[in-house]
Amino acid sequence: MRLIDIQNLETRFDTENGPVAAVNGVSLSVDRGCRHAVIGQSGAGKSILALSILRLLPDNARIRGEVFFKGRELLSCSMEAMREIRGKAIMMIFQNPLATLNPVLDLGTQLCEIPMCHEGVTYAQARQRALEALTLCELPDPERVMQSYPFQLSGGMLQRVAIAMGIICRPDLLIADEPFKGLDARLQQQVGATLYRICQTFSITLLLITHNLKIAHSLCDRVSVMVGGRIVETAATESFFACPDHAYSKRLVEAYDLFSSAIESAPERRCAP
Ligand SMILES: Nc1ncnc2c1ncn2[C@@H]1O[C@H](COP(=O)(O)OP(=O)(O)OP(=O)(O)O)[C@@H](O)[C@H]1O
Ligand SMILES: [Mg+2]
Repeated sequence: MRLIDIQNLETRFDTENGPVAAVNGVSLSVDRGCRHAVIGQSGAGKSILALSILRLLPDNARIRGEVFFKGRELLSCSMEAMREIRGKAIMMIFQNPLATLNPVLDLGTQLCEIPMCHEGVTYAQARQRALEALTLCELPDPERVMQSYPFQLSGGMLQRVAIAMGIICRPDLLIADEPFKGLDARLQQQVGATLYRICQTFSITLLLITHNLKIAHSLCDRVSVMVGGRIVETAATESFFACPDHAYSKRLVEAYDLFSSAIESAPERRCAP
């Protein structure tokens, strides 16, 4: 069953230099419980696609098309209805957690306000939920994390806090925009595994925007490739990596295979005795 069904979505920006077509007629549907990766070059329109779903765009943006979420069309519903959907039924993890977190509020306050605002729970209940979410995201010492300010945590810990914020209200759909950005390869795999486990445990549908093909391969059931504001290919993950169809996809997968085999065949480095 389809959870989200995007039909012919177009997002343009009016700029001093004329219109910029960031998303150019995208149709994409994601089934409930599926983990769907969107990959593609920088500037392809991946983030704007995600932000268009949630209507989180600046005033110079013009959106056309239809976005059905659980059968309800989001682009035509009221802003009040959108506010209810955002943060509860659909949550988004943004590209840069440090930029999206409030630097002068401790993380406990920022975590607790999500269920308090969207579900009307008490502070004590919200606190319990926040501790649970941080534990699920494998953050050591959640109590201490709650008292910390964003600048006091490492990049990997902040990404996990961002995931905890994303799942604290158990959304139907989690949109994660580059949740591994800025992490080293080992941490990217760890955070990816955490995301996978949480989505499995709570049947959360995931729309994952990433440049990390290895994580898209291991985490997702389906893959879409975006080029120049359009989706040029959507396929089941295994068949995509075995036999990509579009010329750009072929180049991506070739580079990925080359890189993976180079790493696998590299001699293990050892320090001189
Ligand atoms: N506010 C804006 N005004 C004008 N153009 C914009 C605006 N925001 C984004 N764009 C343009 O929209 C296009 C798509 O941007 P987007 O951020 O979605 O790319 P992306 O695929 O997410 O790239 P990356 O992988 O680097 O994050 C880019 O050409 C970008 O310059
Ligand atoms: Mg982006």
